[in-house]
Amino acid sequence: MREFLIKNGYHFFSQTDTEVIPNLIHYYYTKETLEDNKFLRAVQAAVHDLKGSYAIEVISSLCPDKMVVVRKDSPLVIGKGSNENFIASDIPAILSYTKDFYLLDDYEYAVITKEQVQFFDSTLKEHQKSTKNIEWDATAAEKNGYADYMLKEIHEQPTAILETIGSRLKLEEKTHFEDLTITSAYLQTLSKICIVACGTAMHAGLVGKDAIEKLCQIPVEVNIASEFRYCNPIIGEKTLCIYISQSGETADTLAALKLAKEKGAKTLAISNVVGSSITREADYTIYTHAGPEIAVASTKAYTSQVILLNILAIYFAELLGSYDSAKLEELKADILSLPSKIENVLHEKTQIEEIAKKIYTEHDMYFIGRGTDYHVAMEGSLKLKEISYIHSEAYAAGELKHGTIALIENGITVVGVLTNPVLTPKTISNLQEVVSRGAKTLIVTNQNLRNTNFDFTISIPKVNNLVSPILSVIPLQLLAYYISKNKGLDVDKPRNLAKSVTVE
Ligand code: G6P
Repeated sequence: MREFLIKNGYHFFSQTDTEVIPNLIHYYYTKETLEDNKFLRAVQAAVHDLKGSYAIEVISSLCPDKMVVVRKDSPLVIGKGSNENFIASDIPAILSYTKDFYLLDDYEYAVITKEQVQFFDSTLKEHQKSTKNIEWDATAAEKNGYADYMLKEIHEQPTAILETIGSRLKLEEKTHFEDLTITSAYLQTLSKICIVACGTAMHAGLVGKDAIEKLCQIPVEVNIASEFRYCNPIIGEKTLCIYISQSGETADTLAALKLAKEKGAKTLAISNVVGSSITREADYTIYTHAGPEIAVASTKAYTSQVILLNILAIYFAELLGSYDSAKLEELKADILSLPSKIENVLHEKTQIEEIAKKIYTEHDMYFIGRGTDYHVAMEGSLKLKEISYIHSEAYAAGELKHGTIALIENGITVVGVLTNPVLTPKTISNLQEVVSRGAKTLIVTNQNLRNTNFDFTISIPKVNNLVSPILSVIPLQLLAYYISKNKGLDVDKPRNLAKSVTVE
C-alpha cells in the first residue's frame, strides 16, 4: 500500500502502518465525484483495503465539524453527551462526562458531530442504534486518596467480591445467574470444559479448573489464548469453552473465542466490562461487576474472577447433582465470609511493607506451592515481575528439585504458599531444601506451622481450599506493590505493559 501511495505522489514520514490510513483516505477522497457523504465514502473505501485489527477515528480539515469512526476487533466506544459526544478506547476514560454509550460493531461506521451520532453498516446503509447505560460511578475511576490505583484496587477487593457475589449465591437457596440458560441436560453432554484466557485471567482460570473438576467431575483444560488459537484444539459440540477477560478486548482471547464458535463449541464469556467485544461474541456472558480496574497489574479483577468461577462451579454442581449438598452449603458459607476475611488480611499490610523494605533490592525470586497454592504462586510471581522488574518464576514445589534448585543460593528469596493441610508438609520439606542452600523464605499460610526456621511468615485466615487463593494472593499483591514503591517505580503504569492488549 505504501508503494502504491508513493507512486501516486504521497510522502511518508514514519514507519508506522497507521500512516498509510490517512493517505489512503485522502487518495479515495480526491477520487470521489459525488459530494453526498464524500468523507464517509472515502473512509469506507480505504477501510475496505485494510487487513488486521484497528479502531480508527478520522478527522479532517476538509470536514471540520465531524468525525468518522470505525473498528475491527479493537475497542472503541462512543459516549453520548448533551451537545457534545466522545470517543475513547475504554469506558472509564470518559466516564466523568457521560454514562450513555454506543458500542460499535465490527465494520460499522459512525459519523459524529457535536449534536448527533449517525450509524451506517459496512455498505453505508444508515440504521438506528440505542445507547447502553453504564452503571459505573465516575469516582470509581479516581484514586480517592490512595497513592496509586493499584493500592486502591487491592483495598476494594472486599466490596468488589460482594458485587460479584451479588444475589447469585445465597445459603440454602439454589445458585442462579440471570440470563444464563445453561441446562443440566446440556452439561451432561459435555466431555470437557476448556478455559481460555491470558495473563492474570488465565491464572484465575487455573483456580476455576480446580473448583469445576472437584464439584462437577467434568475434566477442565486451561489454555493460554495465544496458544489455543493456533493449536487446532480438539473441541466441538461436547465442549464448553469459557473465556475470561477483565477488559473483554484481549485480541488473542477474542480470536480464540471465534475459533471455538467455528468449531461448534458453545462459548461463555467472563468479563468485567459490559458490552465488551468478547461478551458480544459469546453465547453466554457473566460479569464480574468488580468496577473499573485502572492499574495495569490486575488485582480485584483476579479475585472477582476466582469467586465467579467458584460460583459457576457450584451452579453447575447443583444442576448436575454432582456434589454433596451439605458440603456445597459449607463452601457457600466460606465464600460469603470472604469479604470480612479479606479485610483482616489487609490489616496486616504494615508487616508486608516491612518485609518489602528488606528484600526490594533482590534480583531473583521464586514462588512455590502445590495444587491451588501453585496457581496462586504463579499469580504472585507475575505481579512481582510486572511492577517491580525483579526476575521471578513460579514452580510447583515438587518440581523445584528437577532443575531450578540449582539456581538457589544466598540472597535469593523463595516465597511459599501453604494453605492445603494435606500438601503443606510436602511443600515444607521443599522449603527446607532451599533454606539449607541459603535462600531467604517468606511463607503465606493459614496453617499452624511449628518449629520452622522461615524468615518471614504471613498468617491468613482459614477458608475452604477452593477459595483460599482469594486470601493468599493478597499478601503477594501487597508485596509486589511495596517492593515496586521501594524501588521508586510507577506502580500503575509499568514499563512495556498495557492494560488491554488489543494486538496479537
Ligand atoms: C494484559 C494485562 C494483564 C492482564 C492480561 C489479560 O497483559 O497487563 O494484567 O491479565 O492483559 O487481560 P484481560 O483484559 O483479557 O483480562
